[in-house]
Amino acid sequence: MTHILSAVAWPYANGPRHIGHVAGFGVPSDVFSRHMRMAGHDVLMVSGTDEHGTPILVQAEQEGVSPQELADRYNRVIVEDLTSLGLSYDLFTRTTTGNHYAVVQEMFRTVHKNGYMVEKTTMGAISPSTGRTLPDRFIEGTCPICGYDGARGDQCDNCGNQLDPIDLKNPRSRINGETPKFVESNHFFLDLPAFVDALASWLETRNGWRPNVLNFSRNLLDDVRPRAMTRDIDWGIPVPLDGWEGNPSKRLYVWFDAVIGYLSASIEWARRSGDPEAWRAWWTDPDARSYYFMGKDNITFHSQIWPAELLAYDGGGSRGGAPGTFGSLQLPTEVVSSEFLNVEGQKFSSSRGVVIYVRDMLARYQPDAFRYYVAAAGPENQDVDFTWESFLSRTNDELVAGWGNLVNRTASMVAKNFGEIPAAGELADVDRDILAITNQAFATVGSAIEANRQRHAISEAMRAVSEVNRYVSETQPWKLKTDPDRLATVLHTTTQAVSDCNTILAPFLPHSAQDVHTTLGGIGTFAPQPRIEEVTDLDDDSREYPVITGDYRGESGFPAWESRPVVPGTPIGKPTPVFTKLDDSIVEEELERLRERA
Ligand code: MF3
Ligand code: ZN
Repeated sequence: MTHILSAVAWPYANGPRHIGHVAGFGVPSDVFSRHMRMAGHDVLMVSGTDEHGTPILVQAEQEGVSPQELADRYNRVIVEDLTSLGLSYDLFTRTTTGNHYAVVQEMFRTVHKNGYMVEKTTMGAISPSTGRTLPDRFIEGTCPICGYDGARGDQCDNCGNQLDPIDLKNPRSRINGETPKFVESNHFFLDLPAFVDALASWLETRNGWRPNVLNFSRNLLDDVRPRAMTRDIDWGIPVPLDGWEGNPSKRLYVWFDAVIGYLSASIEWARRSGDPEAWRAWWTDPDARSYYFMGKDNITFHSQIWPAELLAYDGGGSRGGAPGTFGSLQLPTEVVSSEFLNVEGQKFSSSRGVVIYVRDMLARYQPDAFRYYVAAAGPENQDVDFTWESFLSRTNDELVAGWGNLVNRTASMVAKNFGEIPAAGELADVDRDILAITNQAFATVGSAIEANRQRHAISEAMRAVSEVNRYVSETQPWKLKTDPDRLATVLHTTTQAVSDCNTILAPFLPHSAQDVHTTLGGIGTFAPQPRIEEVTDLDDDSREYPVITGDYRGESGFPAWESRPVVPGTPIGKPTPVFTKLDDSIVEEELERLRERA
């Protein structure tokens, strides 16, 4: 048993999330976490909404509310959507809690004390017409590295490099097109060059990452410069130093605080659990493992900035130092990044109406139909295009026709012929073979999930399902009326094989796994689900917010990653179908919806 931290990217609370977001961080992290729990590990899955920075400010301005009101609004929407999708967070919190502020400030102070926060005077952009500071993302220009003309002040989306606005060629304001004026401003820079050696040797030992993630991360080390960790902005966490803390227009950079969320959420979880030190098992024990799930636009922050913050805190850079009160914090075991999901041939864009919100998807389709699509056809190693046509066929041809029908057929035949799971007589070779196949699938599918090869994992699981279908066609139980002993053996074997497939599919399809469990006469919780709880801020009685949490370890009743013998005599009634077959007309309907939005 190992302590496994499942660290899931924090969605910005500046709007509802679309299916591209949750295909990147949501489904993959949940499949992994559910499987690891079933395999007996002690999983801590944490995340929350990311509520600082310009993305929140911009949207708040557009909606005419304060940044906190905006964050409150979308935090709740996101919490509801992620819960409906069945994402089994131990704690899904937010970055505007008293706990997060305190943890971030402790990190900053120690990093500063260790000498890795260097104060420098820089040129910051202001708008000549209003005199207000112009945040990085509001500046656009030509990338000094690749020449792309739509680069933003903070990052070039073409080559992926991080930028400083002053380096842009031909800079202009995205608000009104004017040329920004650059004035002097003091900021703290994280001294990234002091960690290049430590980061390189850490990356050296990272075997088994997805190749594109590892290559991208290694390449980042070719050009490392100090990076500003403070901003001229009035929304964010105050800089915890004399002379800075009281200054209303200086705040910590949103990415400095957001990545610390993994740690602060673990601490909040521990404080709420009644054992405030419990988080340490996932963070300071070198045997613990940590997996970070995200979309590819987040890689830089997780394979460079976050490890550098951790090293700076630990005193692990070229100038040494000593850890603060948290002790020596471990670097990520793996950065698990997905590529992008596009939709009907276009990039997602809420502003251009090219978008399918999680909420709309779940209002019309089963959560497991969507989860199946992402696991089977998602952007694991390359960008993929979501089309309604492919959603329809994946759902109907694979989920409904392959798996749902098998469950249904099996339960119907058992119900009709015996009313309960029959005992098996002597097994024939064909029976032993199918049970060997489903047994073997535990190992194959399990190790693929552990290696974060989820597309391979689910295709192996579905291969076992096809084998069981083939077994039923071959043994033809409907022709065995005159041979009740053989019929009993075949239906017992089929029920066992279906039960095994259901356990194997449970990390991918938790909602239907529960239904299949019940269909096969099981009682109690089989695939636990998250719940929303309203909590009081641990450091501020006047504040309440919703969190996602759940009891996923459970009593002995929750499934282990192994075959559980079905029990003869268990009553099975006439089943109701677990999956809904989609009508072909949904494709045209959904395409019309997309057109209306645009
Ligand atoms: N809010 C960021 C995004 O949506 C992700 C932040 S991940 C974190 O791209 F860990 F840094 F919070
Ligand atoms: Zn570029």
